[in-house]
Amino acid sequence: MTAPLLHAADLKVTLGPPGAGVAVIAGLDFSLEAGRTLGVVGESGCGKSMTALAIMGLLPRPHAVGGALRFNGTDVLTLPAEGHRRLRGAQMAMIFQEPMTALNPVVTVGRQIAEMLEVHRATPPDQAARQAVALLERVGIADAGRRATAFPHQLSGGMRQRVMIAMAIACKPALLIADEPTTALDVSVQAQILDLLLELQRDEGMAMVFISHNLGVVSEMADDILVMYSGRAVEYGPAQAVLRAPRHPYTAGLIATLPDIGRRQAVLPVIPGNVVNPRRRPAGCAFAGRCAQAGADCAAAVPMLTPVAAGHAAACLRVRPAA
Ligand SMILES: Nc1ncnc2c1ncn2[C@@H]1O[C@H](COP(=O)(O)OP(=O)(O)O)[C@@H](O)[C@H]1O
Ligand code: SF4
Ligand SMILES: [Mg+2]
Repeated sequence: MTAPLLHAADLKVTLGPPGAGVAVIAGLDFSLEAGRTLGVVGESGCGKSMTALAIMGLLPRPHAVGGALRFNGTDVLTLPAEGHRRLRGAQMAMIFQEPMTALNPVVTVGRQIAEMLEVHRATPPDQAARQAVALLERVGIADAGRRATAFPHQLSGGMRQRVMIAMAIACKPALLIADEPTTALDVSVQAQILDLLLELQRDEGMAMVFISHNLGVVSEMADDILVMYSGRAVEYGPAQAVLRAPRHPYTAGLIATLPDIGRRQAVLPVIPGNVVNPRRRPAGCAFAGRCAQAGADCAAAVPMLTPVAAGHAAACLRVRPAA
């Protein structure tokens, strides 16, 4: 068996100065094969973005990390900053909820895409400029030659997101991380961007880490789903298995909040309570305060991720392990 493109083993991230840090990732394991999509889902504050930033080498400072996080065989947790800079753009790229955080407001979008190619691929400027226009076409921007000369603020939100995607794929990275890429967009534009990402991923053979708080969106995109709660995985498995036969009460709760087209619910149910603050994470199961099935035993120790079926695991004391 070949090694996966991306592999996390007991990944831990603590933000803040030594002695006063907060463990935002408290032991996380996952794998992603080349060309596949891992969907990461969980409510706001569960640690999804910190997981992405750990992969990209962009965690806020100061921080401390533990465990291992391998990309193409390299442990990116111990990689010097310069090495990580070389990986970013060339081999791994990320798109964010808000494209303006990634785009330079005073440089035309064509130039920004061309710069990626000049820096990472040593493409000559005139050739890079032509490729930038081709990339804008590739991400579905009409009249790309003219749009290339626009500044980010002259474009709509959806178009800016397309520009950010063009920048991210310019150097044909092996891994694309999409962190809530459609959360800030109108519903009609959201679907177009998701379709574009699916198409690019298929055509370019990229692996993708697709992050969203919306399980419905994740389920459209992912081969495997990692459900995070308070900095840990509570369920992990093939997308269809997780959706059709969720084993963790938190996953079941997320599924219950999905709009049911047949029923046309006016108000969606929400999981009562809030995500536990990582500073006040309880000793046992972090979901216990919101779980209808919680008992005294749930406070004793953190439930281990336990196999429940082929490739499918859940971290709840009530799950019956696979025989
Ligand atoms: N710079 C920081 N210092 C300390 N805690 C932070 C910092 N940034 C985020 N956090 C905390 O880390 C946790 C995980 O955040 P994040 O990964 O952004 O969650 P998500 O992307 O799932 O919404 C949250 O509890 C958040 O409040
Ligand atoms: S371990 Fe207990 S509290 Fe946690 S999800 Fe399972 S039943 Fe609920
Ligand atoms: Mg986030």
